[in-house]
Amino acid sequence: MRMKRFVAAAAIGLAAWSIGLPPAAAQLDANTARYVAANCANCHGTTGVAKGAMHSLAGQNKDRLAEMFRAFRDGKRPATVMHQIAKGYTDQQIDAVAEFFASQKAAR
Ligand code: HEC
Repeated sequence: MRMKRFVAAAAIGLAAWSIGLPPAAAQLDANTARYVAANCANCHGTTGVAKGAMHSLAGQNKDRLAEMFRAFRDGKRPATVMHQIAKGYTDQQIDAVAEFFASQKAAR
């Protein structure tokens, strides 16, 4: 009985592989933008639409967002908190999160 289940599971796995489903690593990459964006939600809002005086990121130009973020990271833009938050992100993560916020609907 157990062996049958194992064979069935292995067959499904093989079938998924043979039709070209992405491996686990590729799925992680597809979610990178959301994982990084979750770290920004407390201050900038879940989709980058911020409340009050906080800067909204939603719908802003992707390149401009990435450029500002890198400037914070590299200490080229004055900040109260962003220079600390921006540290440790790779260029790929920054591009991914910039694209995520750029593609969100800006507040009216
Ligand atoms: C603790 C609150 C906080 C978090 C978390 C945070 N930010 Fe910020 N963000 C700020 C503040 C405050 C500013 C204004 C600059 C400053 O004083 O640091 C800012 C400014 C920015 C700006 C410049 C916006 C503009 O129009 O000038 C960008 C881009 C940005 N943040 C991106 C991000 C991204 C991406 C994340 C997540 C990785 C993030 N921030 C997480 C508080 C935060």
